[in-house]
Amino acid sequence: MSLAGTQQRVKAPLDVAAIRAQFPGMAMADGRPWHYLDTGATAQKPQAVIDACARAMGVDYATVHRGVYSRSADMTLAFEAARRKVADFIGGRENEIVFTRGATEAINLVAQSWGATQLRAGDRILLSVLEHHSNIVPWQLLAERIGFAIDVCPLTEDGQIDLAAAEAMLTPAHRLVAFAHVSNVLGSVLDCSRAVALAHGVGAKLLLDGCQAVPRLPVDVAALGCDFYVFSAHKLYGPTGIGALWARAEILDAMPPWQGGGSMIDRVSFAKTTYAPAPQRFEAGTPAIVEAIGLAAAIDFVNAIGLPAIHTHEVALVEALRAELAAMNSVHVFGPRHSAGIVSFALEGVHPHDLGTILDEEGVAIRAGHHCAQPLMAHLGVPATARASFGIYNDQSDVAALIRGIERTKRIFG
Ligand SMILES: Cc1ncc(COP(=O)(O)O)c(C=O)c1O
Repeated sequence: MSLAGTQQRVKAPLDVAAIRAQFPGMAMADGRPWHYLDTGATAQKPQAVIDACARAMGVDYATVHRGVYSRSADMTLAFEAARRKVADFIGGRENEIVFTRGATEAINLVAQSWGATQLRAGDRILLSVLEHHSNIVPWQLLAERIGFAIDVCPLTEDGQIDLAAAEAMLTPAHRLVAFAHVSNVLGSVLDCSRAVALAHGVGAKLLLDGCQAVPRLPVDVAALGCDFYVFSAHKLYGPTGIGALWARAEILDAMPPWQGGGSMIDRVSFAKTTYAPAPQRFEAGTPAIVEAIGLAAAIDFVNAIGLPAIHTHEVALVEALRAELAAMNSVHVFGPRHSAGIVSFALEGVHPHDLGTILDEEGVAIRAGHHCAQPLMAHLGVPATARASFGIYNDQSDVAALIRGIERTKRIFG
């Protein structure tokens, strides 16, 4: 399926009971429903993904790209079909998809390969206050080596990347802009076309961290016009240990390898080694075969439901939760009113970890902490927030359980 959700019909409302029944992880050990509200950290897995991984690790298992026997040839076909599926899912081409261990590794790859060869002392790059550490630290590590400067775009009052400020900050010295498509803390959705126009307007490349966007919004990298796009499978109902970097073909083709080993070479000799074309040049070693098959199954699962329907569903849950929280005394909600699937909040006088612990007793799982976004916590003036993040298996009963748990916590803390 191409162009992901844009060609899908919206099938809302979702049949959440039927969807939920496909997720063995969504019940507690005693059989009671589990109010899992931590999909932003990692999504539960549908049976179809578990089965695909079990088959790939069982009756279908063999290595890829090397074997002359038929099982290996079949596995190679399935592995490369998974790459095509990822490409179709985000609107790219298969030669533009590099399998990585996840978004973190994908950003490190861009930094170590593209960044190390393209950035020079005196250059600048632009990140934002709300970035996940994985879109900050790889650039800091490289900046220490090369000596380019990192600028930080501020946020609007309601917690979106302030593109008017970005416009004022960007200069021809900027070579890269790297922003989250959707914030993992606030759910803020980036205006990507404006970000592309601003970056390209000064000759900079645009990297989008799509970790929280890909499970929640139809993504079409060709239509977005960005240069790099990264995501992790485990937030998209797929396995851990795999993700993808999409990079525009002409950029990827010009990037040098970043890790050496088997599979990424053309010919090896002690006199001179030459490298395979992209994307193989960036995939040293035996790849995550089972995980790639699992990712393909996750994409099939999500496509069958449809990202427009998933988005509509999660937006309704965010609105319901924000309305309930707004009606409570002593709750502060962070982030913009219109956000994608994620709500961060603080309960006055209660540390988010205490709230999370009490909610756990009620069978409600939220995330409490800095969410790998310490600069954002500093900006919000808090050490941590409580975060509820929705997935396709959540419904209003999860919102109600969370609100009941917060009410109980308020009573406990007087
Ligand atoms: C916005 C964002 N970027 C990057 C990451 C890092 O993803 P991973 O740990 O799967 O590499 C996350 C994970 O929480 C995220 O939410």
